[in-house]
Amino acid sequence: MSEHHPPVSPLLDRCPEALPASSYFDPDWYAREERAIWRRNWVHVGRLDDIPAGTMRRVQVGGQNLILCRDRDGQVTAFHNTCRHRGAELCSAAEKPLGKLITCPYHNWAYDLSGRLVSTAFATPTPDFRKEEHGLFPVHTRDWNGFLFVCLDDAPPELRPDMGLKALDNWPMDRLKTGHRLVKELDCNWKIFWENYNECLHCPGIHPELCDMVPIYKRGVMAANEASGWVPDAPKQPVLKDGAQTWTMTGAPCGPEFAGLTAEERANGFNFVTIYPTMFVVAHVDYVRSVTVTPLGPERTRLTAEWLFAGETLAQPGFDAGNVAEFATLVLDQDGAACEMNQRGLRSEKYQGGRLMPQEFDILKFHDWVRAQMESA
Ligand code: FES
Ligand SMILES: [Fe+2]
Repeated sequence: MSEHHPPVSPLLDRCPEALPASSYFDPDWYAREERAIWRRNWVHVGRLDDIPAGTMRRVQVGGQNLILCRDRDGQVTAFHNTCRHRGAELCSAAEKPLGKLITCPYHNWAYDLSGRLVSTAFATPTPDFRKEEHGLFPVHTRDWNGFLFVCLDDAPPELRPDMGLKALDNWPMDRLKTGHRLVKELDCNWKIFWENYNECLHCPGIHPELCDMVPIYKRGVMAANEASGWVPDAPKQPVLKDGAQTWTMTGAPCGPEFAGLTAEERANGFNFVTIYPTMFVVAHVDYVRSVTVTPLGPERTRLTAEWLFAGETLAQPGFDAGNVAEFATLVLDQDGAACEMNQRGLRSEKYQGGRLMPQEFDILKFHDWVRAQMESA
């Protein structure tokens, strides 16, 4: 038997200062974040399954232009989208077929799929030029539960989702297929999105439908141990409303429930995994959803939400993934509008930064993470 630890209240015993207002719009701050955060951490670039074998795809990460190459055998490599001759862009299309070589469109230098320079085409270098010193600049890649990540740092950190790498072990992640995708651009800094994600004080006012689905949210908190009057031995209440098993409009599962889940994972109704700065995953009993955060500028952020399903769910007659997505899309639209409202207001020259409330302990953790990243860079 493992030792029993009663849950404790996570509420803060003070109201710490939030990040400075300028961190949400200052171009210099943003450029430092690109270097300190976005080029040093693992960044999600899409489901591996959604890159067909024999494809080259252009992606932007941390302000850098990269290519993802998936060869005919399904192996993935990534490089800076830059030729070693005079620096031309190797791939200008969003996506194109990938053969055995990566050929620069400018003077036709060719690289193999490991990035090695194999031909300088019409150019005939003298012996002082060594081909083996002019391979493509490689970028680290990693597959985690079917999600493809890249890291621009030469020494990537561990990939460390908050709940540990085992968080999704009971979900059949590798055989889930993307059934629906929503891409949304917001006029806000990327940190505003994560702050909103990390608190539920806004839930009663912003999310009536979500509060109906998850009754504790009506009290402006994420879990019972944050609510006033909570005592450690209080009996556990169901997370979702009576009769609901998942986040769909009706609360009914959209297909067969995943077989391997524990009773607790089932009872939770939703299981969040957060991977700063790039994405979060929400695993339900019947489907999984991911939301990827991509900064496009100091005050512009792209969200990519993807709904993942088992083949047997997608194959049901009349199955409509868009319908399943309706509930979370509604919530995401509400959050997006709140984020933009937050961004517009913090632009006042009078506002220098706010204060966090005791319930905003997860925002404090996020801010501490951002500060530590910036300092260590
Ligand atoms: S810049 Fe690529 S071959 Fe010249
Ligand atoms: Fe929200």
